Amino acid sequence: MSDVVVITGANRGIGLELAKKYSQRGAHVIGLVRESSSELSNCAAQVIEGVDVTDLESISQAKSQLQCESIAILINNAGLLTAESLDDMSFERIQRQFDINTLGPLKVTSVLLPLLQPGAKCIMMTSRMGSIADNESGSRYGYRLSKAALNAASKSLAIDLKPKGIIVGICHPGWVQTEMTGHTGHLTAPESASALMDRISEFTLETTGTFVHSNGERLPW
Ligand SMILES: NC(=O)c1ccc[n+]([C@@H]2O[C@H](COP(=O)([O-])OP(=O)(O)OC[C@H]3O[C@@H](n4cnc5c(N)ncnc54)[C@H](OP(=O)(O)O)[C@@H]3O)[C@@H](O)[C@H]2O)c1
Repeated sequence: MSDVVVITGANRGIGLELAKKYSQRGAHVIGLVRESSSELSNCAAQVIEGVDVTDLESISQAKSQLQCESIAILINNAGLLTAESLDDMSFERIQRQFDINTLGPLKVTSVLLPLLQPGAKCIMMTSRMGSIADNESGSRYGYRLSKAALNAASKSLAIDLKPKGIIVGICHPGWVQTEMTGHTGHLTAPESASALMDRISEFTLETTGTFVHSNGERLPW
């Protein structure tokens, strides 16, 4: 079987473009989604629906349905952005983003870890909004907190998985035109996906645990 690429949140946005492009390259793409889209169903080798990254049980169910023996690249892409400010501080929304953006990738990675062999890559789709050093505009409490915590978790994973030969890549996709950004941004989703694939192919055990922009820039924590 060709290389297996597993992508969460692959039904739309950046995840869908990654699914399309990896499929075009001949990879065996498996999308883990809450609900598929026709575009995903047309390009992926397998789509497993009903996977909510906050729900361990649904992730375990997905693992039992995976038509593969190992995963070459796991892309933790699913994410949520909502807006909180001092004038609109919804702790419920902050908690929801923490559950999806931080605990979600950790849950998916923990469950699928037995399928990652030496040389496999675990990619975390984070955001430069999770960088404390880079924060010049404030606000966005839930998203910033959740992505900063994801960065911390990803760094620990990189250290813990290095002896097993598993590489962890921590990626900011750029400011991308998807539903998340109201279709504003510098990059189209296909442009971002292409750049991300270049970065993903570059990650090695020497660079595991680094935080990079899809344009190749190393980002500060
Ligand atoms: N767009 C940007 O400029 C930008 C910048 C920095 C980082 N990112 C990150 O890049 C990733 C992809 O973002 P995007 O722009 O492609 O966003 P998007 O178009 O809004 O897509 C979000 C994806 O996440 C899925 N998702 C959300 N909550 C989920 C849950 N609980 N369980 C399973 N799937 C869930 C969505 O599935 P449903 O269709 O089921 O909701 C959808 O597939 C995210 O992690 C985001 O934080 C994006």
